[in-house]
Amino acid sequence: MFNPQKFIEEKILEIKKVIKDNAIIGVSGGVDSSTAAVLVNRAIGKSLKCILVDTGYMRKNEIVFNEKMLKDLGLNTLVIDAQGKFYKNLKGITEPEQKRKIIGETFIRVFEEEAKKEKAKYLIQGTIAPDWIESGGGLRDVIKSHHNVGGLPEKMDFQIIEPLRDLYKDEVRVLGEKLGLPKDVYERQPFPGPGLAIRIIGEATPARAKIVQEACAITEEEIEKASANGEMSKPWQYFAVLLSSKAVGVHGDVRAYQHIVVVRSVESLDGMSAAYSKIPHQVLEKISVRITNTLKNDVSRVVFDITNKPPGTIEYE
Ligand code: XMP
Repeated sequence: MFNPQKFIEEKILEIKKVIKDNAIIGVSGGVDSSTAAVLVNRAIGKSLKCILVDTGYMRKNEIVFNEKMLKDLGLNTLVIDAQGKFYKNLKGITEPEQKRKIIGETFIRVFEEEAKKEKAKYLIQGTIAPDWIESGGGLRDVIKSHHNVGGLPEKMDFQIIEPLRDLYKDEVRVLGEKLGLPKDVYERQPFPGPGLAIRIIGEATPARAKIVQEACAITEEEIEKASANGEMSKPWQYFAVLLSSKAVGVHGDVRAYQHIVVVRSVESLDGMSAAYSKIPHQVLEKISVRITNTLKNDVSRVVFDITNKPPGTIEYE
């Protein structure tokens, strides 16, 4: 049984022994990186700087929300606008593993620039067990290169420290709660490091990022509303994906050849396996109507994914 108090005490001692200089941490506002940041902050205090990177593939309003949340936790936080860098590096890239590697590398180059300014020798990451297991840790096949593990370039200017690497998601939530994170953060649904870029099949252009951002926001809002109303229980993870193929539709009486959006929602314990959520049809219909109304110039069709993991994975790339 996981004992968060013991874990905190042991890790703080270990971190104090290892980290003798300034450190930076890439924070996304998710439970893993926020928990890692608070833990390391307890060990080394102001020697830790939290870097929140605006990649251009964050969810709607997420940067503003996360910056406030991290500052409220007393963390020394800096927001870096790197949208241009990410868009440029991903231009023309469609292959999922190549996308993940480019995103991982772009993050590292942004962190290196900041590390230089901060004279930091360490990069803390919120990597957890499924991230490295699925990135080919041990003897397993690579399922996906999680951006904070397999997506790392070979040459880096700092040492990587991963204080949560042996924990699973449910343990990180318990730890986050113990460390005083707000409930809406330690209970927050997982969000992948590479962000919405891996929820855009094919090229992750700025215009396509806007579409998936809006579709994700609507999916989240409707599911959260329905869960709060008691129409359904809150799923483990829920979002939208933009496909690369198009479908014929009709708006008014005009033919529309537009994008297809997938609504994906799953139940899971640790993300290693998952079952698709049995969302009530009236909730799915609200999501579909809102997406096709709000994005009427872009999306003509919304479908619901009924695949478990395995054989599917939770994300699409
Ligand atoms: P998959 O798609 O592999 O996802 O079934 C399992 C869980 O991991 C999340 N995920 C990631 N988290 N970096 C992360 O920090 C990543 O590169 C990454 N890729 C997937 C995914 O959202 C799901 O919760």
